[in-house]
Amino acid sequence: MQLKDKVVFITGGAQGFGKAVAEAVLKKGAKVCVADVKVDQGEATAKELQASSGADNVLFVKCDVSDASVFEDAFKAAVSKFGHVDVMCNNAGIMDERIWEKQLEINIGGVVRGTMMALNHMRKDKGGRGGVIINTASTAGFLPFPWAPTYAASKSAIYHFTASWAENPDMKSADVRMVSICPPGAKTALLDCIEEKVINYEHFKQFIDRYEFCGVDQVVEEFLLAMEDDTINGTAITIKGKEGVEKMKMTLIPAE
Ligand SMILES: NC(=O)c1ccc[n+]([C@@H]2O[C@H](COP(=O)([O-])OP(=O)(O)OC[C@H]3O[C@@H](n4cnc5c(N)ncnc54)[C@H](O)[C@@H]3O)[C@@H](O)[C@H]2O)c1
Repeated sequence: MQLKDKVVFITGGAQGFGKAVAEAVLKKGAKVCVADVKVDQGEATAKELQASSGADNVLFVKCDVSDASVFEDAFKAAVSKFGHVDVMCNNAGIMDERIWEKQLEINIGGVVRGTMMALNHMRKDKGGRGGVIINTASTAGFLPFPWAPTYAASKSAIYHFTASWAENPDMKSADVRMVSICPPGAKTALLDCIEEKVINYEHFKQFIDRYEFCGVDQVVEEFLLAMEDDTINGTAITIKGKEGVEKMKMTLIPAE
């Protein structure tokens, strides 16, 4: 898909990966709806993006992806402003094992909700314009991640949900692609106060102290590839050459 004049809706767009993706697609001539539960941060980001890319090309909407009606209203606001949505990035997520139920509701519930809403809007067989839905998973969904098991499970679920929808026979006539992004660790606010959010922090610290973080710019490249390459469907995209990526094949051992 060529991004010029396309409309990109990004949950968790106020900061981190979401904000960086917003900047990148605006540079390619797209229009952006930044949707986030953090209002002050979201408004500040929208203001900054409007200053660099034009006031009419950026919208901020308050959006809690764990609340169906609030999320629907946010999506409707984007459609009302721009006419349609071509790219849906279900990117909002948290990592906090203390509130694992909320974590599942945001990470999985938000992605499922956003995917269904965008699919209904985009599908060509129901009058839409087609499009691409990009769901943010993680490499933590492919390898054991002992310090945040519920987070890891939520990211695995996002990959399988996305890949399964992509294989659905209806998707051909719908003309909607689905891709999951699987970034390795990157230094964003997700890691703020991490000592309180993970299990066995001291053990985690030994891992993280020697971990080679990827750059947010590398993650943006994953998103752009998912948007622009129309041959990619159902795949999980990650960064080449990162530690552990080669090992990310799920192994099933048959019982005798
Ligand atoms: N940073 C990493 O190491 C890493 C690695 C792999 C995957 N991820 C995933 O990338 C995505 C983006 O995270 P990030 O690293 O940019 O972190 P971040 O904390 O900077 O950004 C997450 C954004 O999501 C928003 N958000 C949280 N709950 C929300 C809700 N209920 N409704 C709407 N918005 C909500 C936050 O306000 C924030 O703006 C997440 O899904 C995260 O799990 C991050």
